Amino acid sequence: MIGIFDSGVGGLSVWREIYRLMPGESCLYLSDGAFCPYGPKDPAFIRERAAKISAYLIGRGAEIIVVACNTATAAAISLLREKFDIPFVGMEPAIKPAALHSKSGVVGVLATAGTFRGPLYLDTLARFAGDVRVVEQVGEGLVEAIEKGVFDSPEIDDLLHCHIDDMINAGADHIVLGCTHYPFLEKAIRRIAGPEIVIVNPAPAVAAQTMRVLSQRRKISCGIEESVFCSTGDITVLKMLVRREIPNVDNSIFTKVVI
Ligand code: DGL
Repeated sequence: MIGIFDSGVGGLSVWREIYRLMPGESCLYLSDGAFCPYGPKDPAFIRERAAKISAYLIGRGAEIIVVACNTATAAAISLLREKFDIPFVGMEPAIKPAALHSKSGVVGVLATAGTFRGPLYLDTLARFAGDVRVVEQVGEGLVEAIEKGVFDSPEIDDLLHCHIDDMINAGADHIVLGCTHYPFLEKAIRRIAGPEIVIVNPAPAVAAQTMRVLSQRRKISCGIEESVFCSTGDITVLKMLVRREIPNVDNSIFTKVVI
């Protein structure tokens, strides 16, 4: 079983790529809804949650864990790799492809405060963004809206204008989605940013990396998947987003858990 976790429903943007790539693999998805958002929280708290959740997922049979959260990857991936004896796949801010393909030499990055603070982001910047100007923006308010199931509304447009207008005005031709929640706003981002901007979502690359790591251990399953979706918070939006991908799934695969 592939364990996947995020502070909330955002990691489903990674799960759906894993599902599209390996439809026979069963996933155990955990949304830490009771403690969402992670973005503004102390890294030590996020590390504690990530360790508890990983132990829970392993206890339920996860043989690999995808940390489908940029903020948790930034705070906790090294600790998780030290503490547990299974492979962990984390999120990487997709600055490299954006910087490589940018023609204007300006790249926008939308992420949480925790991700911008993390060593992984700073290291990625230093390694790949030497030749471009990076305009960073914390996506204040976006995660909270998505957790409520709001993906397209005048309020979202207002928030996105606040977050994206400066990047556009600075000449950015790529916007990197540095939080797994944001791909669920892609339609609205496209509307605000216009048709020319390239929106970079790292989720397909993370799914491909998951497949690579898993296939080094065993054959990828071609059977029928039996995935399960849990949350420490409310499961309404979780259900709705999973059903966008697999419309007729049974209610019984969604449960509330205490971790
Ligand atoms: N989805 C998350 C990320 O990729 C976390 C958002 C949050 O909880 O603030 O960073």
